[in-house]
Amino acid sequence: MRQKEGEMCNTKFPKPEEIPAGMAVTGTIEQNFTLLNGELLELDTVLQDVYSPISLNIPDKGLRQVRLGAYPLMNHQLAIEALGVAKRAFRSYEWKAKSVDYKISCAQIFLDEVVKSKDWIVKLLMWEIGKPLAECIAEFDRTLDYIRQTMLMLKKNHDAIAVEKSAGFAGKVMHTPVGVVVSSGPSNYPMYETYSLALPALLAGNCVLMKIPRYGALLHYYILEPLKNAFPKGVINAIYGKNEDTLNPIMRTAEINMLAYFGSSIFAEPLIFSHPRPYRLKKLLGLEAKNPAIVLNKVDLATTAKELVLGALAFNGQRCAAVKIIFADEKIHDELIELLRKEIENVKVGMPWEDGVRITPIFDRNRILYLRTLLDEAVRKGAKNETDNSDKNEGSLFYPALLSGVTPKMRIFNEEQFGPIVPVIKFSKMQEVLEMIADSEFGQQISIFGNDSAQIAELAAKLQFEAGRVNINTKCQRGPDIFPFTGRKNSGLGELSIADTLREFTNHTVIAGKENDCTEYVLKNTI
Ligand code: G3H
Repeated sequence: MRQKEGEMCNTKFPKPEEIPAGMAVTGTIEQNFTLLNGELLELDTVLQDVYSPISLNIPDKGLRQVRLGAYPLMNHQLAIEALGVAKRAFRSYEWKAKSVDYKISCAQIFLDEVVKSKDWIVKLLMWEIGKPLAECIAEFDRTLDYIRQTMLMLKKNHDAIAVEKSAGFAGKVMHTPVGVVVSSGPSNYPMYETYSLALPALLAGNCVLMKIPRYGALLHYYILEPLKNAFPKGVINAIYGKNEDTLNPIMRTAEINMLAYFGSSIFAEPLIFSHPRPYRLKKLLGLEAKNPAIVLNKVDLATTAKELVLGALAFNGQRCAAVKIIFADEKIHDELIELLRKEIENVKVGMPWEDGVRITPIFDRNRILYLRTLLDEAVRKGAKNETDNSDKNEGSLFYPALLSGVTPKMRIFNEEQFGPIVPVIKFSKMQEVLEMIADSEFGQQISIFGNDSAQIAELAAKLQFEAGRVNINTKCQRGPDIFPFTGRKNSGLGELSIADTLREFTNHTVIAGKENDCTEYVLKNTI
């Protein structure tokens, strides 16, 4: 961050009149309510200002961050009130005991309403977290598609429940909800990963306390009303505010049955251990990752370099599934560095509405200082910054850096950068790479790049024990959503796919008895 706000300069940030038609924000959202007990309840509480990571270049004044509005910061008392609402809603039979057709019809009402606000939600997503426009549109569509597929899966699972008979018993295995669920999505996917937890939790029959992410909070303004109109009162409630004031006190009551959490373990761990009986808290966690890509000596380097840059730098590298470290065979290392350098120098840096842009303003200013620290430490310890563009960094824009000569002694080797730094390690023996991966604290995904199928197969057969997914000649990624998204070690717990997520949000309950008319009647008449 070489340049201070307020200075005039040759900047990537636009003058107000340079923002394309339809992309500017007009007015602010001053939200002082939340969704609680089926109402958009006005709160008499402190509001949190929301500023965009996008600044405007104001003549004679310099760069000015854009204020987008404010959202309420709930306190301990409101959070406990919300818990009471969710508990009562779960204790009644007005949601959990309803038919799957009814639950699906509620979700359909939600989808039909929320789609009407697509343009507003997409625009807020772009201004709140700086995500490129095309990816904001994709996030919106993907969220709705995930919910639609979950609705179909719920019906399919329910229709597949059948009476089984064995050893004189007849019974069936039901999918019953877990109870009161806290769900919390991250700021990098504030729509997709918030609602791909909350909606499956709801559809499975649970009652939900949905935490709104710190960044990407205002867009939910357009979603709370559709939720209110679609679902019975109290079954879904929104929590705004700091964890220490909201989720931690809720956890301390021991009344939460399940935590579904996407984000950093720094926040997940205190939540889990706030629960007085953590052993009975069901957990579904997507946490940090340090996904490695291994580039073998027999490889198509040009296509590999392109895919690596996409994997490492899409949305500034702010994806949990981004490629976060590259292991390059010594035979192709120098050529790969050269290709990566050229690719990275051609990556478009700019505002999120620009076509083809990949590096955009970073939503968390503290992240920029952290990235700088990681880079400086690596260079001090002998790494080379192959694309030193740091003099171009301004405000929230951080130019991508390619680091060669990285070693396990550097912080960038062990820590999740979650930003546009691409570290590369040269290796001569595959055994060394396997050991570094086995020693890593993380285990979400791995990518292998090569064109010798036998060499890749041999390696994949070993790496399948180290991570939740092994990718062949492609970047690491969550989708398509039919595959389980999961992690080993510090990277997560539980599995997310259309089918697995529903399973995670339910328990198996057996209704069974000795084979006779009474049992048969009960099995036929319980839904
Ligand atoms: O941030 C979490 C994951 O990266 C989400 O999946 O980016 O591969 O679509 P994706």
